[in-house]
Amino acid sequence: MLATLDPQTKAFRDDVLAGLCAPIPAIPARWLYDRRGSELFDEITRLKSYYPTQTETGLLRDIMPQVAAHVPKGCAVIEFGAGSATKTPILLEAIAPAAYVPVDISGDYLEHSARELQHRFPRLEVIPVIADFARPFSLPGGMEHVPKLGFFPGSTIGNFVPWSATDLLRQFRALLGPGAQLLIGMDRVKPVERLLAAYDEPEGVTAEFNLNLLNRINRELDGDIPLDAFRHEARWNDILSRIEMHLVATRDVTFSISGRDFHFAAGSSIHTENSHKYPPRGGRILLLAGGWTPTHEWSDAKDDFAEILAVAEPERFAP
Ligand code: AVI
Repeated sequence: MLATLDPQTKAFRDDVLAGLCAPIPAIPARWLYDRRGSELFDEITRLKSYYPTQTETGLLRDIMPQVAAHVPKGCAVIEFGAGSATKTPILLEAIAPAAYVPVDISGDYLEHSARELQHRFPRLEVIPVIADFARPFSLPGGMEHVPKLGFFPGSTIGNFVPWSATDLLRQFRALLGPGAQLLIGMDRVKPVERLLAAYDEPEGVTAEFNLNLLNRINRELDGDIPLDAFRHEARWNDILSRIEMHLVATRDVTFSISGRDFHFAAGSSIHTENSHKYPPRGGRILLLAGGWTPTHEWSDAKDDFAEILAVAEPERFAP
């Protein structure tokens, strides 16, 4: 079977087999996003209880004149992720950049969203880059002397544990270079009931999103996990300041994946996602640790969500 697997499926299989054998079973969250998973996430962003998308969209609209005043004319916007049909145009309209470079691992999705944006902004140079933004990659040629603005909305940074989030920010810095700016969205800590309601809502879309991972394993990795043996659970981990998604076994269950057998006792779980929430100072420290100095920070009236503008200052001797 090994020889016939494409590299993506092989990576998926390696992560799943290693993750399920770990002392705390866990599967990296990026595998939640197959075609169905991406559709379900899209649906999540339209749910009333999932406040981050609506709040950030409103916030971006409100602050754009101020952002535009702090960003050089004719810059290139590099968006980490394919871009959202609602948020990205708000930025592009306000700052009128010379070029827009969306970076995403999913070529299909990227081409589609790049085409739509090109249609909406015919004079903008749109240069999609197919790459995993969490790994080193290069910018298209000819951008060496163009001022750069990284755009990382959605609080996606919260899906990385602080250790990897710092690595990621440092990598953005290495890619964009000293003097570049970064506009990044971060979700705030808030009452636990509101957080849990956003990640386990009555409509059950987030539950389906989480359980879809088991479907994907069965389909792509020759698994026979009984879907009714697991349920979605969202937990708030106060010490680590994050929402965790788990798939909890509702009974003792045995199954196989790619010819390997697994047993989960009732009540044991597979950890599938982290979504870190940052208080103001915590978020700024994270940026500083990643090589970005915050220069401006905005949040909505309820302080539910923050947008931070930061700069990659040239290295200097620290006292
Ligand atoms: C993509 N990311 C920022 C979402 C979040 O809120 O952490 C993923 C998500 N998981 C469940 N609901 C939304």
